[in-house]
Amino acid sequence: MKNNPLPRLDTDQEARASLLPFCRLSKGDVWIDEQSGHRVGCLDAANADDMKKLVGDSKASLAVHDPPYNLVAFETKSVSEFIDWCRKWVEHSHDHMLDDSSFYVWLGADQKDHFQPLPQFMMMMQALDRFNARSLVTMRNQRGYGTQKNWMAVRQELLYYIKGNPAFTVQYTDIPKILRGYYKEVDGKKTENLERSKSDNIRPGNVWVDIQQVFYRMEENVSGCFAQKPLKSIDRIVTTSSQEGDVVLDFFAHSGATLLSSEMHQRVCYTCDIDPIYCEMTIRRLEHFRATGRTGWQNDHAFVSEIDGDSVDTPPQKVLFT
Ligand SMILES: C[S@@+](CC[C@H](N)C(=O)[O-])C[C@H]1O[C@@H](n2cnc3c(N)ncnc32)[C@H](O)[C@@H]1O
Repeated sequence: MKNNPLPRLDTDQEARASLLPFCRLSKGDVWIDEQSGHRVGCLDAANADDMKKLVGDSKASLAVHDPPYNLVAFETKSVSEFIDWCRKWVEHSHDHMLDDSSFYVWLGADQKDHFQPLPQFMMMMQALDRFNARSLVTMRNQRGYGTQKNWMAVRQELLYYIKGNPAFTVQYTDIPKILRGYYKEVDGKKTENLERSKSDNIRPGNVWVDIQQVFYRMEENVSGCFAQKPLKSIDRIVTTSSQEGDVVLDFFAHSGATLLSSEMHQRVCYTCDIDPIYCEMTIRRLEHFRATGRTGWQNDHAFVSEIDGDSVDTPPQKVLFT
């Protein structure tokens, strides 16, 4: 395994300065993928014109958003300012979604500060009254923090809302069913749960315990990213709440996990990030996957051709409209 990672690109100014010249997109640009029609914009999710530029007149069946909820990007903003900002991109999503569609948001809860901004976000969604609440999913991390004086913090929250009555395709985990019981009479015959079930595996329910957090040894790792969601979690959402050919939105691309999952499952993803470096990372991840079949760079990185002089996978496609 190579040991050639990039540092965190949101904070390392020197690394940012060296990578920016290799980024195809500047503020306001949208890249359109010639092969599958995906779009990546260097745009502001809170700006209605920007989101119109990204989505146009298309309508999405699914949105999967992962905003910078840990307030790293909002150090000088209060919780209420953060929620006002969230309300904008929630409304923009709603404007570009089908009457029957699914809306997912990953959101943290600060246990040192009254679990903000999770409750405030939920209240905002209730008051806005655009989507109906459907489930609160918790994904369990393998690694946690604060183990000695508190319950180890291992959870990531995923809010699931709907507009209208969207399709829901039940998924199964790779965890086998092991518990017998739950006897029930079916057609006069006593049956137990294992013989009645549609699968030998359990459904994830709304507590997901079968998904490995991304770390540097995994193929899907995109070094330089600091908030990458595991592909398996995005695959689960995409395959449950959209169909082949559907448009999927993600206004906070970062490592491009939703774009890659959409490509793998024959959906079309319209995504954006305010940072041109993460836009480039997202585009390169797709190109790298098409060229090599690999989902990330493990402990190597996306700019290796320019920084270290290695060969490129494919010549980059140009920006198609600005
Ligand atoms: C938590 S990360 C998303 C992680 C992503 N789900 C993944 O798996 O890689 C949040 C991203 O939102 C971007 N961002 C912050 N403010 C934004 C805005 N106003 N519009 C669009 N993107 C923004 C940040 O640059 C960052 O890359």
